[in-house]
Amino acid sequence: MEKFVIEGGRPLSGTVPIVGAKNAALPILAATVLAQGPILIDNMPHLLDIQVMLDILRSLGVQASHTGTKALIDASNMHTAEITEERMKKMRSSIFLMGPLLARFGEATVYQPGGCAIGERRIDLHLNGLRAMGAVVSESGNKIECRAHKLRGAQINLDFPSVGATENLMMAAVTADGITTITNAAREPEITDLQIFLNRMGAKIMGAGTQTLTIEGVKRLQPCEHRIIPDRIVAGTLMIAAAATRGHITLEGVVPGNLTSLVYVLRRAGVQIGIERDIINIVAYNRPRAVERIVTSPYPSFPTDLQAQLMVLLSLADGGSIIKETVFEERFKHVRELSLMGADIRVDHNCAKIRGVPRLYGATVEATDLRAGAALVIAGLAAVGRTIVQQIHHIDRGYESIETLFTRLGGHMERTISIKQDRLASSM
Ligand code: EPZ
Repeated sequence: MEKFVIEGGRPLSGTVPIVGAKNAALPILAATVLAQGPILIDNMPHLLDIQVMLDILRSLGVQASHTGTKALIDASNMHTAEITEERMKKMRSSIFLMGPLLARFGEATVYQPGGCAIGERRIDLHLNGLRAMGAVVSESGNKIECRAHKLRGAQINLDFPSVGATENLMMAAVTADGITTITNAAREPEITDLQIFLNRMGAKIMGAGTQTLTIEGVKRLQPCEHRIIPDRIVAGTLMIAAAATRGHITLEGVVPGNLTSLVYVLRRAGVQIGIERDIINIVAYNRPRAVERIVTSPYPSFPTDLQAQLMVLLSLADGGSIIKETVFEERFKHVRELSLMGADIRVDHNCAKIRGVPRLYGATVEATDLRAGAALVIAGLAAVGRTIVQQIHHIDRGYESIETLFTRLGGHMERTISIKQDRLASSM
């Protein structure tokens, strides 16, 4: 298995552009099955999850190519509305195809999706929303079969502002008979990007970015062109890495307004942040200050996808901090790994109590999920000595060559194969 070998202790410095957002690209790729004809999507990142989504689309009969930053998709000749269990298991966002397939074919057969092991990750809000629109949804074991001769507009209220459920139901509703409203909808920027994409295809959606979405069903959607928004979680990961290594970096091609909650927290920790148009400057020459209490919750609050990364910074802060995780039930698996590096963190239910230490020390640690893995990379870059991060396939799901990203900023980090394979190779 591949691993990262990181020599820590060097402040990051330099300038780096921010690629397209994984969590905008995935639902938008799912939405391409709603139209027939060539769709060109620019700023498409090269990630494992994107490859998996393109493979799923091809398995349905969609023509899909990804060259450079451009993806060309044509769903004219699809031949099935069923996705295999093996493919569904590879990532959570495979479930995004349920709504669009049901809207296009009147049927969809999928399976319980996979995804990062950060909690139960139920899909009841997705399924109940489709039922409210007239779909007959039957579940047997992991298999989920949806049927609807014609979806009809409905008034749907989400118990929790689920990102995926909001997106799935938006896509199901675009060609339904009548008007659908979704209240307590998620407000993430990736949902606004999906609304822009669908409306370019001829949909009539209003309200993205607010808690109430209104979708007026239309007859057909047309192909279009689109450019994916920049990835705010990749940007936030780099901002925290700069702060943790006491460096000075510049991010280009970001949407600062999508990072307001992180900017506010980092400034409270004593990090200097300059913002102008689509550029963010991070300067952090001093030890970070502790931040008394951070609570993750749906956008525009502090994002759960930056929780692990922020924990690394606060592990090095001068004083005590508390992080409360309210979105996922099991998103503290990185605590054990950080403790191996000398962090002083105690978990009490969904609260992590952090006592800052002057430094972390290199160790061999394991990525348990995507963002926990990114956090361990940051910890390795900030630590004294050598850190080995294993199970790095998790990280490749959401970061385009993270080792290149950090090496360009002065970090000492390389991707190698595991010792066992090394020994095997040398003995041959
Ligand atoms: C999206 O996941 C993101 N993934 C996640 O990013 C992100 O952490 C999450 O939103 C929250 O912001 C993609 O966009 C591909 P949710 P999603 O539905 O849609 C519960 C990353 O690191 N829930 O908003 O799965 C669920 O169990 C990934 O890039 C139900 O109970 O998140 C969870 O506790 C990780 N029933 C909470 O809601 C449902 O039907 C939030 O889930 C759906 C969700």
